[in-house]
Amino acid sequence: MNELMRRLLFLPEQASTFARSVDNLHFFVITVTMIASVATGLLAFGFFFKFRERVPGASTPIVNPSVRFELGVIGVPLFFFLVWFVQGYKDYVWYTTPPGNTTDIYVMAKKWMWKFAYSGGGPNAIGTLHVPANRPVRLLMTSRDVIHSFYVPDFRIKQDVLPGRYTETWFEATKPGRYQILCAEYCGTWHSQMWGEIVVMPAPEFDEWMLDQKAGLAERADSGGDDGPSFHGSLVEYGKRIAMAQGCLKCHSVTGEPHIGPTWLDLYRRRETLETGEQIVADEAYLTDSMIDPRGKIVKGYKPVMPTFKGRLAAPEAAALVEFIKSLRSTSLENVPSKEAVYEPAHRAR
Ligand code: CUA
Repeated sequence: MNELMRRLLFLPEQASTFARSVDNLHFFVITVTMIASVATGLLAFGFFFKFRERVPGASTPIVNPSVRFELGVIGVPLFFFLVWFVQGYKDYVWYTTPPGNTTDIYVMAKKWMWKFAYSGGGPNAIGTLHVPANRPVRLLMTSRDVIHSFYVPDFRIKQDVLPGRYTETWFEATKPGRYQILCAEYCGTWHSQMWGEIVVMPAPEFDEWMLDQKAGLAERADSGGDDGPSFHGSLVEYGKRIAMAQGCLKCHSVTGEPHIGPTWLDLYRRRETLETGEQIVADEAYLTDSMIDPRGKIVKGYKPVMPTFKGRLAAPEAAALVEFIKSLRSTSLENVPSKEAVYEPAHRAR
C-alpha cells in the first residue's frame, strides 16, 4: 500500500529510516482530505439540482440542523486533525532527537556549495558526502553567508542552515547508493545549482574506505572512492607533475591570471558560460570531458585551440589532474567566472 501510494505520487525512493513514516503520515493526510474534498464537491454539485429555483421569487426556508449533525461536522474533522497531530508529533520528536551513538559530520553551506568535515578526522569534501548505511549520522550545520536548507528528498530530511548558528539533523540511511542533496532555501543566483551527493556505503566498506582515507592512500579522493587509484602518496602532487609534464600549465595558469585557457585557480565547481551561451559547472565530469574532447564545450571568450589528450592520459592520470585542479582554491568567498582569454603576451598588451 505504502509502495503503491509512493509510485502514484511519484515520490522519490525511501532510503532512510524516516522515509516510510513521513510518507505514511503524508498518505494518511492526503487520502482523507482528498476523499473529503471530492465528497464535498459532489455534494455541492448535487445541491445545484436538488435546490434549484423551482418557483420564481421563492425564498429558501430557514434550516436548523440537529445538534448531532453539528457535533458530527465539528467532531469528525477534529478527530482526524488530532490523530495527525499525535502521529506527527511522535515522528517530530523522533526526527529531532538524534540517538547517542551517531557519527558526527560538520556541514558548512556557502554560496553555492556544501562542505563536509568528519568530526573524528578524515577526508574533508566538497559536494560529496560518504556515509555508512544502517548507522545513525548526525549533521551539525552552519552557513558562511546566507540561509540555506539541507534537503535530501530520498531521506525525507530538510533542515535550514543559518549563518552564525548551528542547526542539526540526523538520519540513518537504509540502502547503499547515491542520493541527491539539494538546497531548499532560495539563496541567490545559483541556488538551483547548489546540489551535492550523499554516497551511502555498506558499513564495513565505509570503515575500510575511511581507514584508507585516513592513511592517506587516496588523498583527497572525495570524488568516488570506489575505483580509487593505487598511487601511493599525494594524488595532488602527482597531478601537478602530470600537468607540468603534459604542458597543461603553458596555457592554464594556477594563479588566477587569464591565459590561453581558463585559469585553474578556483576552477573546480566554477560556473562558466560556454560559447553556446549554455551555463555549466566545472565539475569532475566537465574537467575530464575537456581533457578528452576539449573542443566540445568551450568557455566563452576562449578559442578552441586545446589538443585532445585522449589516449595520452591514463585514467588515474586524468583523475590526478582533476584532484590537482580541485586543490587550487583561493580563500575568496565566491568564485567568479573566467575572464576573457589573453592571446597576446602580457608585455604587449596595452
Ligand atoms: Cu543555498 Cu539555496
